[in-house]
Amino acid sequence: MSKIGLLTSGGDAPGMNAAIRAVVRKGIYSGYEIIGIQRGYAGLLSGNQFINLEIGSVADIIHRGGTVLLTARAPELLQDENQDKAAEILKSKGMDKLIVIGGEGSFRGALTLQERGIKVIGIPGTIDNDICGTDKTIGFDTAVNTILDAINRLRDTATSHERIFLLEVMGRHNGFLALTAGLAGGAESILLPEIEYDINDVCKRLMHGIKRRKAHSIILVAEGAGDVFKIKEDISSQVKHEIRVTVLGHIQRGGAPSAVDRLLGSRMGAMAIDLLHQGKSGLFTAAKGEEIVALPLEVCFKGTKSFPDNLYQLALVLAK
Ligand code: F6P
Repeated sequence: MSKIGLLTSGGDAPGMNAAIRAVVRKGIYSGYEIIGIQRGYAGLLSGNQFINLEIGSVADIIHRGGTVLLTARAPELLQDENQDKAAEILKSKGMDKLIVIGGEGSFRGALTLQERGIKVIGIPGTIDNDICGTDKTIGFDTAVNTILDAINRLRDTATSHERIFLLEVMGRHNGFLALTAGLAGGAESILLPEIEYDINDVCKRLMHGIKRRKAHSIILVAEGAGDVFKIKEDISSQVKHEIRVTVLGHIQRGGAPSAVDRLLGSRMGAMAIDLLHQGKSGLFTAAKGEEIVALPLEVCFKGTKSFPDNLYQLALVLAK
């Protein structure tokens, strides 16, 4: 029976388990043996972290955050000799096919294995939603909802004390999470790595809100937009109002996946099997509107995902 390797890599994301479940169940249904590789590429390189996944192995996981296969960041796969080694290990175990669930770095690793004769399919799983070519990545919707929940809670206490809150959310290199949650949560200002901001403008907006008796203000700060504590100091020097900082951190990465992420994981996992079954590889599954399509892995390295400036402008207008 033909064997397909399956691993999750990089930061975990809610909905990865739904994708694992779909790969295993659709894979077995299609006549394959599915081998789970634990701890991502690091586990693959160790050569001894393989588990046979049966129909029952993925029972009771669709609603759980994280990844039952465990994950890791594996910078060692950047080295040529380790790429050769990883491909050799897969071949020696009879796996000439591999499905990788992860972000852009994980896809780069996948491509190096494709170039070494392994048939690879990527499934985009990261809360950052920063993979070029797909409208959505698995985990993004859940993380946005987690941030919205935090905003709602902060609003209660912010209103009671008439305070300003800075909420730092994830996004080292991009502000998709901050922008989407900020717009949906009605944040007064959203600070992103993509948009240069002037602290004087941020303060003017705050003062404008205070003058028209806004009970509180929430400012969303993507982690890549600058040091949130320094931003607090800069605002304090101009706005004489109490300010508090909340860093949401890894809370954004956990929790039960939303319906959107379960569906995305299930559909993409099943499609990854279909693509391999059709003899296709070197592709990743991508959400385009309501459809899931297959795109060459190279697409996600060719450009950066375009920033939705229209949403940013809308957020500015609506938060006046
Ligand atoms: O998963 C992506 C991401 O959440 C980034 O937004 C964040 O900066 C980073 O991972 C944190 O990674 P780690 O878990 O390695 O600290």
